[in-house]
Amino acid sequence: MATHDGLWWQRGIFYQVYPRSFQDTNADGVGDLNGVRQRLPYLGELGVDAIWLSPIFPSPMADFGYDICDYKGIDPLFGTMADFDALIAEVHGRGLKLILDLVPNHTSEQHPWFVESRSSRDNPKRDWYLWRDPKPDGSPPTNWLSEFGGSAWQHDATTGQYYYHAFLREQPDLNWRNPAVRRAIYEVMRFWLRRGVDGFRVDVIWHLIKDREFRDNPPNPGYSEGQPPHQRVLPLYTTDQSEVHEVIAEMRRVIDEFDQRVLIGEIYLPTERLVAYYGKDLLGAHLPFNFTLLSAPWSAREIEKIIAEYEQALPSGAWPNWVLGNHDRPRIASRVGMDQARIAAMLLLSLRGTPTLYYGDEIGMQQVTIAPGEVRDPFERNVPGLGVGRDGCRTPMQWDATPSAGFSTVPPWLPLAPDSMHENVRNLAADPTSILSLYKRLIELRKRSPALTWGSFELIAAKHDLLVYRRRAADSSLLIALNLGSEPAALASDAIDLQGSILLSTFLDRDHEALSGSLDLRGNEGVISEIADRGG
Ligand code: NOJ
Repeated sequence: MATHDGLWWQRGIFYQVYPRSFQDTNADGVGDLNGVRQRLPYLGELGVDAIWLSPIFPSPMADFGYDICDYKGIDPLFGTMADFDALIAEVHGRGLKLILDLVPNHTSEQHPWFVESRSSRDNPKRDWYLWRDPKPDGSPPTNWLSEFGGSAWQHDATTGQYYYHAFLREQPDLNWRNPAVRRAIYEVMRFWLRRGVDGFRVDVIWHLIKDREFRDNPPNPGYSEGQPPHQRVLPLYTTDQSEVHEVIAEMRRVIDEFDQRVLIGEIYLPTERLVAYYGKDLLGAHLPFNFTLLSAPWSAREIEKIIAEYEQALPSGAWPNWVLGNHDRPRIASRVGMDQARIAAMLLLSLRGTPTLYYGDEIGMQQVTIAPGEVRDPFERNVPGLGVGRDGCRTPMQWDATPSAGFSTVPPWLPLAPDSMHENVRNLAADPTSILSLYKRLIELRKRSPALTWGSFELIAAKHDLLVYRRRAADSSLLIALNLGSEPAALASDAIDLQGSILLSTFLDRDHEALSGSLDLRGNEGVISEIADRGG
C-alpha cells in the first residue's frame, strides 16, 4: 500500500491553459500572459497545482504557436519577457507550478535555422532539417503524409529538393539525428528551466525520429473514407522509432540537471506502446500523457477495460496519469453530454495518477459550432468537411455575462459559446450544485485524501452501466461508484461491505449519508464513499 508523500507532479492536479483563449487584457481579442496572471486567484480557488501553457513563443501563428520562430522569446501577442517573469513569480508565490510547451519536432519555416537551411545545399544548417532529392519523375521522395493533409514533402525551388513536414508545410521537421539540433534544443530547455519553469509538455515527442532509410509507409488496410487522409498509410517509418527513446533519455538528463522538474510527453499510441515512453529504468518521460479516455466509448465496461489495461501495462514504479480533454480534441461535455460530464469529472479526479484538466471543462464548456467563414484551424481548412476542426474546443473562457464573457472587451478571435451568458464562472460559482462546484469539491477531496492522491487502485466487478473501484491508503478506504447510464442502478457486491458514509455525490446533495449494506445510485450519478475495509 502506497504511503509516501509523492513528488509534486504526482500529488498535483494539472490545468491546461490555451493562452489565446483564457483572458485578454489588451483588448485585441486574443488572450495574453497578463490575463493568465490576472486569473491566478481563480485557479487557486479551483485548487489546481500546476498550469501548463500552450505555446507563447514568437510565431507566425500558422498553427497558433506550434510553429515557433524563436524558442527563447515571447510573442508580442502574448506580452513580453517581463510579463512572463512577472507571471512565473506570481505562480510560484502562490505555491503553483508552471509548465511550458516545448515544440522540438518542427520549427516555423520562418525560424532563422530554416531560413539558413533552405538557402543552399551546402549551408551549415542544411542538415538541421530533412532534405531529400525528388524521385526521378520529380515526385516526393516517399509516400509519407502530412497529418494536416497532402504529402508531407514540400518541394523547394531554391535548391530543387524536398523538405519533410509532419504537419503544415510552414512547420518543417528538425533532423533529430543531428547532434547539433539536439544540443540547440537542450539549450532552449535550460534557458527556460533557469528562468524557473517547472517542466515541459513536449509536443509530438513520439515523432522526433524518422526512419534512417526513408522507407515508404505501408497502406492502412483499415482505412475508410471519412477518416483524415493521412490515415491512408500506417506511420510505421515516421513515428515511434526505437531511437526516439535515446533522445527522450537525453531530454530527461537535461531536466534532471535541475531540481524537481517534470517531463511530460504528448503521445498518441496504444497503451502497450505508450508505456515504453517511461523509458529504460524510468529515465524517459515522467508522464507520457495517457489519452485513452479522449477516445473511449463512453460505457462502463469499455472504460473498465481501458483502466485495467493501463494499470496492468504500467512498468513497475511508473506513475500513471489521465486526461479528459485538450486543445486538439472535442470537449468532453459535448462528447458525453452534460449529465455524464459530471461522471467524467469524478472519474478523472478519483483515478490513480496525475489528472490534467483542460481549461473550461470545469464549467462544462461545450464544443462550439464554427461557421464556415470563421474557421481558423489550419487542419480544418486543409481537410474540410470531416469534422477534424479544433476551433470548437478552443473558444474563449466564459467568465461572466458581459458581451465578451469577461474574456475581452472586444469581439474575441473565436466566437463565444452561445450559452456563455448563463454558463460562466460567475454564475456557476454562485450555484452550489453546479459542475464548477462539483469540480471544486472533487479537487478539495482529492487533495485531502491520501487514498485518492496516492492510494492503491482496485477495480470492483460491476454490471451494466456501473463502474466501481476502490482506492486505499493507510487508514482509509474509498469506494467510487459511477453510473454511466441514465437509469437508476443499485450496487450490490459480495466483495465489498457497504458500510460507511457518502463523502460526495456528483449531484452534491448526499454528504454524510450513511451506507448500511447497499448503495442506490440515481441515473447519471457518481458517488465517492468512505467504507469499512475488510480487504487486505
Ligand atoms: C500537437 C499539438 O497539440 C497540436 O495542436 C499541433 O497542431 C501539432 N502538435 C503540431 O505541432
